[in-house]
Amino acid sequence: MREQLERLRQDALGAINGASGEDALQEVRIRFLGRKGELTALMKGLGALAAEERPVVGQLVNTIRDEIETALEAVLAAAREKAKDERLRSERIDVTLPGRRPLAGSKHPITQVIEEVSDIFAGLGFSVAEGPEIEHDWYNFEALNFPPEHPARDMQDTFFVDNSLLLRTHTSPVQIRTMLKKKPPLRIIAPGTVYRCDSDATHSPMFHQIEGLMVDKGVTFGDLKGILTIFTNQLFGQKTGVRLRPSFFPFTEPSAEVDIACVICGGKGCRVCKNSGWLEILGAGMVDPEVYRHVNYDAEDISGFAFGMGIERIAMLKYGISDMRLLFENDVRFLKQF
Ligand code: DAH
Repeated sequence: MREQLERLRQDALGAINGASGEDALQEVRIRFLGRKGELTALMKGLGALAAEERPVVGQLVNTIRDEIETALEAVLAAAREKAKDERLRSERIDVTLPGRRPLAGSKHPITQVIEEVSDIFAGLGFSVAEGPEIEHDWYNFEALNFPPEHPARDMQDTFFVDNSLLLRTHTSPVQIRTMLKKKPPLRIIAPGTVYRCDSDATHSPMFHQIEGLMVDKGVTFGDLKGILTIFTNQLFGQKTGVRLRPSFFPFTEPSAEVDIACVICGGKGCRVCKNSGWLEILGAGMVDPEVYRHVNYDAEDISGFAFGMGIERIAMLKYGISDMRLLFENDVRFLKQF
């Protein structure tokens, strides 16, 4: 029996040293110390021993069990420690590595121009007004004094939704909506999206305009020119002022097209200004009495001016963009530059 015990001791210690990993060690424990293990099996033989031998061998069994137990614990502890080291090593973060910079977005050039124009007019006492992009024929054309046969109503320019609904072709209907809601004095600008059935390098079926309207007692054409001079000088950072050319719009009388000195050549003449030295940037005029009639204003009592400009054109001039379509492709490599 002593011999058997001694062999078991050797076997167990050998198995412990040969086992790698926690699982293998637990198997060794079950094999030798478990309820159906080898040591338990040997102990069944104790009863067959002589009475004086029994306590001595019993003592030996205990010693061997303790020894195996101790050896197991020591190797187990080492295995756990090693596993933990490995885990910590694999989870290690190198805090000295350079970080990944989050991509910072930037405002679209159209948004930037809208904000800049709004800021300049806010400084001149204008607040921002809005209107719907799906508009009634009446606000878009009729109340703005477009006669029924006016070419701008033609299917070629206007996206009709049905007989009386359309995608607004300009921001001018916001003038009508504002005057119907409020009495003078009035100073508003109305930035927004407009739609026309037209598409090439300088035209997009969807684009943006900013409308302006000022109505009060005694507003003159001189006020219009003054406001537009301040505005364009601030926006383009030049002192050249504006040039007004007679023009026609159904809702203004008199009407003008407004030019600024060419921002590319400074007025000397170049390809962009077609050698004229001037760039057209907006339409304007004194509000036509016919428009006042539609919104129940008394044209004898008040007067006012209106103007409208294309935001894409201003953005293209300001940032030197040659193709309007670039503004709508949303290529981040393009947009990042602004
Ligand atoms: N609505 C005109 C257009 O889209 C622009 C315009 C011209 C607006 C003259 C005005 C104005 O308010 O007075 O072409």
